[in-house]
Amino acid sequence: MSLSLETITAIKETIPLVSQEAENVTTRMYEILFSKYPETKPLFANATSDQHKKLAGAIAAFAGNIDNLGALGNAVEKMAQSHVNTNVKPEHYPMVADALISAMGDVLGEAFTEERKNAWVEAYTFLANILMQREQELYAAR
Ligand code: HEM
Repeated sequence: MSLSLETITAIKETIPLVSQEAENVTTRMYEILFSKYPETKPLFANATSDQHKKLAGAIAAFAGNIDNLGALGNAVEKMAQSHVNTNVKPEHYPMVADALISAMGDVLGEAFTEERKNAWVEAYTFLANILMQREQELYAAR
C-alpha cells in the first residue's frame, strides 16, 4: 500500500502552514485528546520528554518526507519503542486521529480544505498502520 500522488500533493501544499503552526496544532491536539478521551491521559503520565515538541517535529518531518518514507525509518523505530514503553495500543490511534484532524481544522481554519483534510486522514492512517504493525511485533517479543 502506498499513498496516491493526489494525497502527496495535497499534503505538500500544507507543509509551510503546518510547519509554521506545528506547536499550536500539537497543543490544541492534546487539549482535544485529553478532554474527549481522558483514558489517554495516563499514557502520558510518565512522559520522559517534551512530547509536545516531539509530536510537532514528527508531524513536520512526516509531511516533509511524505514521498520518501524510507527517510523516516529510524524515527518510526523510535516512535514504536516509545509507544510500547508507554503502553500505547491500536485502539488509541483513532482517538489521536480525531484529535489531530480536529486540531488542524481549528488552527488552520479555511486553509484546511476538505481535500487536504482527506489527504491528512489518509496519510495519518498510513503511518499509523506502519507504527501499529511494528508495535505489535515489539509487544509479541516481550
Ligand atoms: C501516527 C500517529 C503518531 C505519531 C506520528 C506519534 C509520534 C510520536 C513521537 C515522535 C514520539 C516521541 C518518540 C521518541 O521518544 O523519540 C511519541 C511518543 C509517544 N506517543 Fe506517539 N505518535 C502517534 C500515535 C500515538 C498514539 C495513538 C498515542 C496514544 C494516545 C501516542 C502516545 C505517545 C506517548 C505516551 C509517547 C511517549 C511520551 C514520552 O515519553 O515523552 N502516540 N509519539
